[in-house]
Amino acid sequence: MSIALIVLAAGQGSRMNSDIPKVLHRLGGAPLVHHALQAGLALEPSACVVVTGHGGAAVARAVTGFLPEAAIAEQTEQLGTAHAVLTAAPRLEGFSGDAIVLYADTPFIRPETLRAMADARTRHDIVVLGFEAADPGLYGRLVMADDMLERIVEARDATDEELAIRLCNSGVVCADAAVLMRLAAAVGNANAKGEYYLTDIVAIARAEGLSAGVVRCNEAETLGINTRAELAAAEATFQARARAEALDGGATLIAPETIFFALDTWIGRDAVIGPNVVFGPGVTIETGAEVRAFCHLEGCHISRGAIIGPFARLRPGAEIAEHARVGNFVEIKNAVLDEGAKINHLSYIGDAHVGEGANIGAGTITCNYDGVSKHRTEIGANAFVGSNTMLVAPVRLGADAMTGSGSVVTADVPDGALAIARARQVTKPGLALRLLERLRAARGRSAG
Ligand code: UD1
Ligand code: MG
Repeated sequence: MSIALIVLAAGQGSRMNSDIPKVLHRLGGAPLVHHALQAGLALEPSACVVVTGHGGAAVARAVTGFLPEAAIAEQTEQLGTAHAVLTAAPRLEGFSGDAIVLYADTPFIRPETLRAMADARTRHDIVVLGFEAADPGLYGRLVMADDMLERIVEARDATDEELAIRLCNSGVVCADAAVLMRLAAAVGNANAKGEYYLTDIVAIARAEGLSAGVVRCNEAETLGINTRAELAAAEATFQARARAEALDGGATLIAPETIFFALDTWIGRDAVIGPNVVFGPGVTIETGAEVRAFCHLEGCHISRGAIIGPFARLRPGAEIAEHARVGNFVEIKNAVLDEGAKINHLSYIGDAHVGEGANIGAGTITCNYDGVSKHRTEIGANAFVGSNTMLVAPVRLGADAMTGSGSVVTADVPDGALAIARARQVTKPGLALRLLERLRAARGRSAG
């Protein structure tokens, strides 16, 4: 059965008190909308439509950055969830199969839950995801008759008796796409909010003789983000889940509660992560690599047997080969370290390639930026860069080349050559003592 995702992301999220569209606020380093998309992708959908409205252009960019094949449907006026679903219809022309409606501000729905909904379609025309709410508040209530869902009533339109129901609507719905669109088009807006409620499709379907059922999930899964406080609480939930998943996947986390993950962090078996490590987006760490305490990593790949940190910063484009070593207070950006390369202390390596087995001395800096453009530094295999070398890019050190400590290297160094680019030392015998004597005498005169 083909599946289409319809992700609703048009709402303003006014309670976030923000200029940023709600679904672009970040959770685990990724916009909220990516979380909903990622959960939906587990169903291997053959189509995906995201309905945008507030901040539409920015939301569309975030969506297509994550999933280039996603279609965007713009809902210029937010007239309700049924109207939002209908807005997606033109983007699903030619699609036949089931559609699943997700909310972009609801990040914790598990793929297993969505699979259970898709499976339940063999028993029901419409499948709604429900949960027992601790405090049902403003959630829509699921009115059941035995195992059948009769209708959904919004809290604002509910009787006292209906308000007493604790089985609530998560908003996630699955139905045949054509049926869903036909029912959504039949919905009216004669209700407390004057909106076209998607929830009304259930009563309409039942009146036509179609069946509707409920798949239940844990309330935690349906948690929606409406405020900054909820976003902060959701971050804690996300991190707890990510830590548990990393441990299940065979990583060693020395102090899990101090390690922060991103949505797409990938850590191989037997990798060891020390305390207080922060993963930004786009990090993959292979089996057996080690990241020591207090590292900040984003957009990088660390291969088997490499050791990073403590106190290292890897920025986007850092590609660390097997058994390479990046030590304390080293920053690496857009640079490839080949196998066994070592940068152990106090260095900045940007827009560079460091050859196999090269050794970069403490305090080495690639001067990659001239104020206008970035330039590359090439360091050959087994090169030895002396401490405090400035490599003024564009520049190339050959294989087995060396630089003298304190050199400012502005010209290429051939293979096997030694470059010394610093002032020659001058030594004056006894001058230190004579100088001190003179300084003390001068102070004596000014005090007297
Ligand atoms: C909705 C459900 C309610 C359910 C609750 C779960 C309806 C009528 N009600 O209520 O039964 O318990 O979610 O959280 O569906 N959106 C659009 N365009 C619109 C309107 C909404 O894209 O025109 C998006 C919103 O951005 C949001 C989602 O749809 O992501 C739900 O809309 P929201 O206004 O939050 O619905 P609720 O009143 O919470
Ligand atoms: Mg809501």
